Amino acid sequence: MARAVEAQALDVGYAAGSTVIAGLDLAIEAGTFLSILGPSGCGKSTFLRVVADLLEPLRGTIKVLGDDPHEVRQRRDVGFVFQDSTLLPWRTVRDNIRLPLAIGQSRLTRRIDDRTDELLDMMGIAPFALRYPHQLSGGQRQRVAIARALLGEPKLLLMDEPFGALDEITRDRLNDELLNLWRRSGATILFVTHSIAEAVYLGSRIIVLTANPGRIRKDVDLRPLKGDGNRCSREDPKIVAMMAEMRSALEAAS
Ligand SMILES: Nc1ncnc2c1ncn2[C@@H]1O[C@H](COP(=O)(O)OP(=O)(O)OP(=O)(O)O)[C@@H](O)[C@H]1O
Ligand SMILES: [Mg+2]
Repeated sequence: MARAVEAQALDVGYAAGSTVIAGLDLAIEAGTFLSILGPSGCGKSTFLRVVADLLEPLRGTIKVLGDDPHEVRQRRDVGFVFQDSTLLPWRTVRDNIRLPLAIGQSRLTRRIDDRTDELLDMMGIAPFALRYPHQLSGGQRQRVAIARALLGEPKLLLMDEPFGALDEITRDRLNDELLNLWRRSGATILFVTHSIAEAVYLGSRIIVLTANPGRIRKDVDLRPLKGDGNRCSREDPKIVAMMAEMRSALEAAS
């Protein structure tokens, strides 16, 4: 099976002497929904930055969609939603979402319009389409950033605590929307969260990272616990037990 991401003996850091991630070996099959848990500061965002070609590794190799991360970035095959995504203040919600494809693709304008409307609905932000970012709540802004990342139908989607700013009801609803989208698209998703429940509910696989330096502490295939299309109930005893197991792993990693 094809690999969406493959890291071998990967060391990542920001300055000489400070290694955030050390000797990471990680192969992620295409089509995986990978949940990433780990204590604050262990290197989750740093790892996503390397995949997105925003940071060069110190040592080791990383392949993204079978290619150098730089090539993949050029082709815009990767979409990302950062922990603190920024919108352009002078563009409306609608124009912020359309931004990635707004340039030089007039042939596709009609389709982009339809797709933008679809995403506005899906994210529950259609009523704010013509507002500017400063007129939105933090969670609404975050949903605009998610819609923007989804517009190009990326093969690989990097999401760094995308739902952290949302109330639990909205968060649960968007979890299901995201799962539906993932099932339909066959995309690979790397999803960082601090919510154990969310990580177990969403993932087809889950990893727990430790800090100093960042390494994989636990790596579990969740598919055997779930039904068709990675479906499960949050109350299923197997799922509840897995959440407890992940809590212990996270405690040990902290
Ligand atoms: N630009 C930077 N320059 C130097 N050090 C950095 C930089 N960004 C992050 N770090 C350090 O790298 C380590 C990992 O940071 P990272 O943001 O990847 O953590 P994280 O796992 O995403 O944490 P959180 O859950 O709090 O978001 C931390 O010790 C952090 O202080
Ligand atoms: Mg982070």
